[in-house]
Amino acid sequence: MIFGAILAGGTGTRMHVADLPKQFLPLGDKPTIIHTLEKFLICPRFDGVYVGVHADWLGYMEDLTSRYLPAEADRIRVTAGGGDRNETIRNIIDAIEADHGFREEDVIVTHDAVRPFVTLRMIEENIDGALQYGAVDTVTAAVDTIVVSQDGMVISDIPDRRKMYQGQTPQSFRISVLKQLYQSLSPEEKSVLTDACKICVVRNYPVHLVEGSYTNLKLTTPGDYKIAQAMVGGDAL
Ligand code: CTP
Repeated sequence: MIFGAILAGGTGTRMHVADLPKQFLPLGDKPTIIHTLEKFLICPRFDGVYVGVHADWLGYMEDLTSRYLPAEADRIRVTAGGGDRNETIRNIIDAIEADHGFREEDVIVTHDAVRPFVTLRMIEENIDGALQYGAVDTVTAAVDTIVVSQDGMVISDIPDRRKMYQGQTPQSFRISVLKQLYQSLSPEEKSVLTDACKICVVRNYPVHLVEGSYTNLKLTTPGDYKIAQAMVGGDAL
C-alpha cells in the first residue's frame, strides 16, 4: 500500500505570525495546507493521506478538512505530530500500522505541509523511486555557488557546484526500511538527524534523487509567504 504523510506538526516560529502556524496561513482562497493536501489527493495511487498536526491544532485541522475537502474525508486521516519532524513521521507510521497493519513493501511519501506547490509529477516519481529503491529525496541542482564556513566568518571550502543540490520534499521510503534505520539510532543521533534522508545516509542506505523545482517553495519566513501569495495571485497579510 502507498500512503501520503503531510508533516504539519511545527508551529512556524520563523514566520513570526502570531497565533497561527504557517501551514494554516491563507494562500489565495484557502489555507496553505489545503493546497498541499489537494496536490496529494489528485494522485489516485494513495490508499490514504495522513496529516501529522501539533496536538493543540488537531480540532482546527479536522474542521479545515471537513470544510474544504468533504468529499475526500475517507482518504484523509488527521493524527498528532511529534516533538520534532522525525517524530511526526514516526507517529504517522504508527497510525498507518494501527489502521492497516504492517507489510514489508508499504511506501510512505513524506512532505512538508508548507510546500504547497509540489507537483503530481514529483509525487509520482517519489512513489516509483521508493518502490524501486527504498528511499528517495527530491532535490534541485544548486544554482548559487555553495560556500562552506566553519566559523561563520571565513570561507573554509567552496565545493564543486556541479555536485551540489538543495534538498526539498517529498522524501519517500519503504516504511520497513525507514523504521529499521530510525530504530538503530541512539538518542543523541536522533536529536541531530533532523532530516529523514540523513538517517539513511549515516547508515549507508542509498537515497536516490528525484528532480524537484525552484517553484516547490518552502514557506519559512514572511518573505517566502509574500512570494507564495504572488504565485497564487493573492495578497500578503
Ligand atoms: N514539522 C512537523 N513536526 C514538528 C516540526 C516540524 O511535522 N515537530 C513540519 C512543519 O510543520 C513543516 C515541516 O516540518 O511543515 C518543515 O519544518 P519547518 O519549516 O522547520 O517548520 P516549523 O518547525 O513549523 O518552523 P520553525 O522552524 O520556523 O519553527
